[in-house]
Amino acid sequence: MAQKKIVVANWKMAPDTLKEAKALYLAERKTATGLRRVQTIICPPVIYLHSLSTPYALRPTPALGAQSCFHLKSGAHTGALSAEMMARAGARYVLVGHSERRAEGESSVQVAMQVNAVFDAGATPILCVGERERDEHGFFLKYLEDQLIESLHGVSKKRIGMLIIAYEPLWAISSEQLRPATPKESEQMALYLRKLLASKIGLKAAREALILYGGSVDVKNCEAFLREGGVGGLLVGRASLDAKQFGEILKIAERAPQLH
Ligand code: 13P
Repeated sequence: MAQKKIVVANWKMAPDTLKEAKALYLAERKTATGLRRVQTIICPPVIYLHSLSTPYALRPTPALGAQSCFHLKSGAHTGALSAEMMARAGARYVLVGHSERRAEGESSVQVAMQVNAVFDAGATPILCVGERERDEHGFFLKYLEDQLIESLHGVSKKRIGMLIIAYEPLWAISSEQLRPATPKESEQMALYLRKLLASKIGLKAAREALILYGGSVDVKNCEAFLREGGVGGLLVGRASLDAKQFGEILKIAERAPQLH
């Protein structure tokens, strides 16, 4: 059976209240549950996870995810939250290595530990990678290679084959945006990431790896990324805070062809 397209909503630090979070989740759920070819994952702020998942015995549709986790499993770490806690609160996925977390000082070494912590907790990591900027000499390719390889340090071949990768260049994220990425760029980078992955998990598994595109995805450009971007889904920030827009993106994804 063809792999479903994955559309991930990253709500970041919004909305402000649980009431709004519940309303947004229910509104997005309405569209998501009617789709057969799209798997929707909603990543709210972690404080809302439990309240959103408990009415569905912690296994809601659409699935819930967390936006980050601490790289260690236990201990005296004030303010930190473990992957295990996220999973127990209903997260089946955890974003790791998001550029906004890396900008706060998270290193690729820590990201690799998070990847393993998320798997150990029984959830699936969505590993975010992406260059901060581009240069005409192509140094950003080496930057991305180092980031990916370091973020997978100590992660087994089997696990690498199971995780989701999100290519999200910092310069294309709506809050930072210098210019939007093009579907062609997404396609080239997905191809490049598959080539890098092939050295770790073999050609066949790398070809089938789930790669998402993220960065200023909206109703207007989502179809082109899905059709021409070489990716199996999308990671959506700002547009996922608007149930109507996000619902449209989901419906467009339902109609777009499968990658594999
Ligand atoms: P925007 O869709 O707002 O650019 O955010 C992208 C993002 O960071 C999702 O993780």
